[in-house]
Amino acid sequence: MAAGGVAPAAVAVGELPTVVAVAAGLGLLVALGGIWAMGRLRTRSIGVMLAVVVVVAVAATLAGVVAIIAKMIIEGPVKDFVLSVVAVGGLVGLGVAFVLSKRVVRESRRLVDAVREPPFKAPQGLPAELQEIANTLEEAYARERALEGARRELVAWVSHDLRTPLAGMRAMAEALEDGVVSDPATVARYHGQIKLEVERLSAMVDDLFELSRIHAGALRLSRARVGLADLVADTVAGVEPLARAKGVLLTAEAADAAVPVEADAGALGRALGNLVVNAIRHTPSDRAVVLRAGVDDGMACLSVADCCGGIPEEDLPRVFEVAFRGESARTPTADGGAGLGLAIAQGIVEAHDGVIGVVNDGPGCRFEIRLPLC
Ligand SMILES: Nc1ncnc2c1ncn2[C@@H]1O[C@H](COP(=O)(O)OP(=O)(O)O)[C@@H](O)[C@H]1O
Ligand SMILES: [Mg+2]
Repeated sequence: MAAGGVAPAAVAVGELPTVVAVAAGLGLLVALGGIWAMGRLRTRSIGVMLAVVVVVAVAATLAGVVAIIAKMIIEGPVKDFVLSVVAVGGLVGLGVAFVLSKRVVRESRRLVDAVREPPFKAPQGLPAELQEIANTLEEAYARERALEGARRELVAWVSHDLRTPLAGMRAMAEALEDGVVSDPATVARYHGQIKLEVERLSAMVDDLFELSRIHAGALRLSRARVGLADLVADTVAGVEPLARAKGVLLTAEAADAAVPVEADAGALGRALGNLVVNAIRHTPSDRAVVLRAGVDDGMACLSVADCCGGIPEEDLPRVFEVAFRGESARTPTADGGAGLGLAIAQGIVEAHDGVIGVVNDGPGCRFEIRLPLC
């Protein structure tokens, strides 16, 4: 053996396959140990994981060196040099891992602090994955806040809408109980009025229930092949008495009777019914409401056109909001709703993968439902 312990080159080359095989075997063992350790530590700080990565890298390198030493290819001072270099490399790796883990930990703390301080605003300059989490969180919080605001507004309006008729009913019931009213005509009128209010309140509670199911994503649709013409015919049959009572001319044009959609006939009929009832309510007597069904742009299309005189431009984007009512509809009347009808219609149409919209057109407005054909 040459002075200084350096093995002759010929020997080193000859030993290469063995050294590689031993190093690979030991490296595999080290890697398995590292993976096992990562599994055990998976809920610990990223800093600990980075330390494991560095230890594994150093240990795998050491395994190779051990293989070389075992074959006596190097020994003496050279062995010490090689071991020292590996040790220094390991320390440098650990140092960098330490700095990196401090940074990752600091940035995740920054994210956690931001989350704890409402209203949440995504901190900027985070590592890519953390930034993505922060941005997603910001969107989710904003959505939550908007929903919360809408819910609060809904509760305020609904409790107002419930309280007004309840106060009236209590007054009438007390008057009947105390015998304050006794002439048969007034007694009959009070009874009729109480029954009407009860029906209106029940409808409102049903609407609220439906809406909360839609918002909870719990709307159960039993979808089947439905022809739009049948849907229109059923809807017209249901609202005919209301149109007649108001003197509104209700007509239906189902151009292509066979337009098929995959829909829950009950739910979709309810959505269309809400549109038609609104149209009739906002159209003066002797004017027309027209229902159309057909295919447009490769989509099944249902539309309801009325003669309401147009919806104010600033209200157009808001009519589908929960509890939104136009100014004229704010004061509760016998046939007034709670501003839930269009929100329900929108929820049902979207659950069918469709879209609903409204435009001002001619003497009034036109609501349109578009659904995928089947
Ligand atoms: N066909 C229509 N013509 C004019 N305005 C309408 C029509 N449909 C809806 N609107 C407006 O949209 C608002 C919300 O409608 P909706 O959600 O059905 O609630 P509601 O009927 O209980 O008021 C109505 O108060 C009204 O201002
Ligand atoms: Mg309505």
